[in-house]
Amino acid sequence: MPRVILGFEDAEAVAQHAAREFVRRARAAIAASGIFRVALAGGSTPRRSYELLAHPSLANQVDWEAIHVFFGDERAVLPDHPDSNYRTAFETLLSRVKIPDAQIHRMQGERADLDTAATEYEATLAESFDLTVESSPPRFDLVMLGMGDDGHTASLFPSTGALEERRAWVVANDVPQKGTRRITLTIPVLNAARCVMFTVEGHDKAAALAAVLEGPRDPRLYPSQLIAPEDGDLLWLVDRAAAQSLAIKPQDPSHSRSLS
Ligand code: 6PG
Repeated sequence: MPRVILGFEDAEAVAQHAAREFVRRARAAIAASGIFRVALAGGSTPRRSYELLAHPSLANQVDWEAIHVFFGDERAVLPDHPDSNYRTAFETLLSRVKIPDAQIHRMQGERADLDTAATEYEATLAESFDLTVESSPPRFDLVMLGMGDDGHTASLFPSTGALEERRAWVVANDVPQKGTRRITLTIPVLNAARCVMFTVEGHDKAAALAAVLEGPRDPRLYPSQLIAPEDGDLLWLVDRAAAQSLAIKPQDPSHSRSLS
């Protein structure tokens, strides 16, 4: 499916659509195969989508007993740290729905040895997807991603080593921009997904979004350009503020026409 860029008036509308898309894809995957495997985005943008998903009006539409939750990346912090992506998802969603604890697969960012933590997460993926780590990458039903104002996604930051990784599914990545190491899914896994859904909001993302979507191809500078599912959907849900520098206006999902 070609890349679809949907424009929304504001962050709330983006979150509403993202939450509904999660439900739609979860219901379809569970109906088709009895399971839905999703990798959640980190950062602050998805908070509202998670909160909406936890609301009974949406939560009651999915069988959480059939859902396995993974993470796209994690910071090098304890799971109860304010910067933890796991904590964000737990507080806003996972603690509010009936998903079995064993189906929440946390990246152990707190470990002193993040390389081992990454390798162990690969083993978790292999077990859950019934694969061996030598096989093709796991194929998530949905990967939710955000994008930084520098064009990074997950913990794939500009000019960092993880950008080149094409064998491992999960790596520890040195991120000098943040003065830290992080655990992240790699390009092969992200691009194996049935659907990758970005949510991008706010003026501060406008320049990077235009560079990623419409600028010259320069993935070392704009890593989000690397995200192109080989056999899956690529959805960009953007609000008006983030889309302000785009030459081609996003589609209006309600009228399936470009925003004026
Ligand atoms: C992380 C995320 C990262 C995030 C962007 C956008 O761990 O930080 O995986 O890729 O999606 O940095 O973050 P905001 O949503 O907070 O702007």
